[in-house]
Amino acid sequence: MLGRPNDLSEIRSAATDEPGDRGSSVWWHSGTTYLLRRAPMSRVRVHNFSVSLDGFGTGEGQSREAPFGHAGTRLHEWFFPTRTFRSFHGAQGEPSGSTGVDDALAGGWATGVGAEIMGRGKFGPQRGPWADEEWKGWWGDDPPFHTPVYVLTHHTRPSIAMTGGTTFHFIDSSPAEALSLAKESAGGLDVRIGGGPSTVRQFLAADLIDYMHIVVVPIVLGRGERLWDGLEGLEQRFDLEPVTSPSGVTHVTFARR
Ligand SMILES: NC(=O)c1ccc[n+]([C@@H]2O[C@H](COP(=O)([O-])OP(=O)(O)OC[C@H]3O[C@@H](n4cnc5c(N)ncnc54)[C@H](OP(=O)(O)O)[C@@H]3O)[C@@H](O)[C@H]2O)c1
Repeated sequence: MLGRPNDLSEIRSAATDEPGDRGSSVWWHSGTTYLLRRAPMSRVRVHNFSVSLDGFGTGEGQSREAPFGHAGTRLHEWFFPTRTFRSFHGAQGEPSGSTGVDDALAGGWATGVGAEIMGRGKFGPQRGPWADEEWKGWWGDDPPFHTPVYVLTHHTRPSIAMTGGTTFHFIDSSPAEALSLAKESAGGLDVRIGGGPSTVRQFLAADLIDYMHIVVVPIVLGRGERLWDGLEGLEQRFDLEPVTSPSGVTHVTFARR
């Protein structure tokens, strides 16, 4: 457990003290010419984000036992058989799991990502001041992120360093401030916006997302938290490509125009 900073400047300095400034530009000498090599621009990405036909990214009534409320596991049934999902959960021995279209799209989740931003509702079921600071997320001692993770909350708390390179930092920031912090610690790699729906919606409303992979699941949830509210005409900012999978879901990629 790190100290109780949650002063953004303290988190910022902890994030940039890590070795290897992978985001910086590099000068080098070639004959008589000095060339400037720029690091590729860091992108802001959403992956594997499931919504029901009626646009809900989670159900109602979240609890410790039901992270997605009354939706149960229905939004992610497509994901569980994939090799990507199984590898998150430390499957022993030979790699297992499906390698079709669902896995091909799901597998892009971690590649080139140096930090994640998530909302407090993705991190856990508590609301208001933290009654239980022992809570360290749903993912056990070694969460699958392996990067800094910035948890947006109005109730900050000490950062938590987990096994495997994930550190949860709790910040009370606008989407733009959170992104600037995450980009600094991502060292030139991309930043993933991990959800839940109201967090992705905020970043879309602020036009901060470059690439998004949405999975439309053929169920009607009827209640919960919607992704698309207030985002009329969003499709005009992106090139969209839908791909239907034999599992029954439709993957839709959004690439910023
Ligand atoms: N469909 C999917 O693929 C997918 C992916 C990820 C998660 N989920 C699910 O989505 C649900 C959570 O989504 P959600 O939309 O309810 O919540 P969320 O986006 O995870 O978190 C929202 C909460 O984060 C805090 N917050 C957000 N923006 C903030 C800001 N700018 N400044 C300070 N605090 C801020 C607020 O909490 P406080 O005011 O309480 O601090 C807010 O109530 C969970 O059920 C999770 O399992 C679904």
